[in-house]
Amino acid sequence: MGGKSMMNMAALMVLLGVTAVTAAMSNDYGDALTKSILFFEGQRSGKLPANQRMNWRKDSALRDGSDIGMNMVGGYYDAGDNVKFHFPMAFTTTLLAWSILEFGDSMGADLEHALEALRWGTDYFLKATSKPGMVVAQVGDPISDHICWERPEDMDTLRTTYVVNQTHPGSEVSAEIAAALAASSIVFNNKDRKYSMVLRLRAAQVFEFANNYQGSYNASIGRGACTFYCDFNGYHDELVWGAAWLYKATQDPKFWVYVVRNIATLGGSIFDFGWDSKQSGINILVSPTVMKSPGSIFITNADKFVCSLLPESPIKSVTYSPGGLMFKPGGSNLQHATTLSFLLIVYSRYLQAARRSVHCGSVVATPSRLIEVAKTQVDYILGSNPLGMSYMVGYGPKFPERIHHRGSSLPSTNIVHKHIGCHDGNGYLTTNKPNQNVLVGAIVGGPDNNDQFPDTRLNASQSEPTTYLNAPFVGVLAYFKGGK
Ligand SMILES: *[C@@H]1O[C@H](CO)[C@@H](O)[C@H](O)[C@H]1NC(C)=O
Ligand SMILES: *[C@@H]1O[C@H](CO)[C@@H](O)[C@H](O)[C@H]1NC(C)=O
Ligand SMILES: *[C@@H]1O[C@H](CO)[C@@H](O)[C@H](O)[C@H]1NC(C)=O
Repeated sequence: MGGKSMMNMAALMVLLGVTAVTAAMSNDYGDALTKSILFFEGQRSGKLPANQRMNWRKDSALRDGSDIGMNMVGGYYDAGDNVKFHFPMAFTTTLLAWSILEFGDSMGADLEHALEALRWGTDYFLKATSKPGMVVAQVGDPISDHICWERPEDMDTLRTTYVVNQTHPGSEVSAEIAAALAASSIVFNNKDRKYSMVLRLRAAQVFEFANNYQGSYNASIGRGACTFYCDFNGYHDELVWGAAWLYKATQDPKFWVYVVRNIATLGGSIFDFGWDSKQSGINILVSPTVMKSPGSIFITNADKFVCSLLPESPIKSVTYSPGGLMFKPGGSNLQHATTLSFLLIVYSRYLQAARRSVHCGSVVATPSRLIEVAKTQVDYILGSNPLGMSYMVGYGPKFPERIHHRGSSLPSTNIVHKHIGCHDGNGYLTTNKPNQNVLVGAIVGGPDNNDQFPDTRLNASQSEPTTYLNAPFVGVLAYFKGGK
């Protein structure tokens, strides 16, 4: 097939209008929700439970933590590699908790699985924070890990345990763990009161450690952090975010005082939300508390955030691909589309409850407009796009088959029992054949800003799934499943 005719086809689709494509497709949000949660089972580290459904995965990393005399078995592999990066893992856990808090009622039978996925994270973070005055910040040497293309079940790479403590602080990783524990304590409040209390108390202790011993894990854990999940924008946003979640979990006014005192001097961009940047999340999370106070900095910033996203906004700062996908700088673009859609929906509901709209210059955005914009992103991700490609693995007729993921690309230990060493799996990385195991529910980094997607493992930015891509999407899908 000639390149030209492909181009013409793409141009034709644009001419016909993406709306036609969208209208022709109706997505099964319930199916996508089920899959988005199932994905987390594929990322599990440690001893797998009897009810594990993603059964091409087996036990792995059963000695994690032994180098420092701790039990650090469990938690999640972050993405397509086998490192347990606690900074993004904690953000994933916070967002999974927030998803359940807002939209758990619409999850039906999947709620139980969402709670299991959450608890897999919180059980692990209780281990990481079990000793006072220190927090385990990461397990697995990323340089050693990235050299190999190995199944987690075979790992023989360095499983270094990295800690932060009073002399080598890590306020971003500690405060994000505090946020995750606090948010989860609210989720478990009506389901397991005792567990909820344990989480809440631990969250407060970890926050105190993060705040009393301030500094970045960048410096404290050296090669474990940068260039992987370097804390680019500083740790003050995680401290305020942690305090905001603790306020929500405890209603203790000292946390509210902390949030208010520190928000004005917070650096970074109020338009960002992700594993490194919490600003817009903070503003939206606390907005119901101050919705009745016009001029509140939280509302002003949350409104500006909305105006940075809407296609019709005169002060829009994201770009849209011809097919309608939101783009922001940085790799793994769908992380932006999923987290920002989540915030749009959450804020829309808070606005609705307060009977408010957002003013972007002369453009007025009603709460339902925010939902419409989020829906365009969700539908794009699920296949309403120029390639007709779903960016969720295992959803719809066409989805990425060569995702950058060690476990998914290599044959299961069910099939190939013998150990596959560090470089012995390289052929599975470079082959053009589809992956051996379907990592159902994984959302990948996604297409380029021209809506193109080559479906190759060799482009990790496009073809690698990550847990923090899925976590907010769980909430988004539950919302649309609920059809509200
Ligand atoms: C504190 O953390 C640093 C960096 O991880 C480590 O080298 C040091 O041994 C720790 N100190 C104590 C007392 O555990
Ligand atoms: C962490 O390191 C990165 C890269 O060197 C740097 O840009 C950033 O400012 C550092 N963050 C902190 C909080 O020191
Ligand atoms: C990978 O994808 C990104 C985003 O679409 C693109 O900018 C980059 O050039 C690609 N890299 C390679 C090696 O193809």
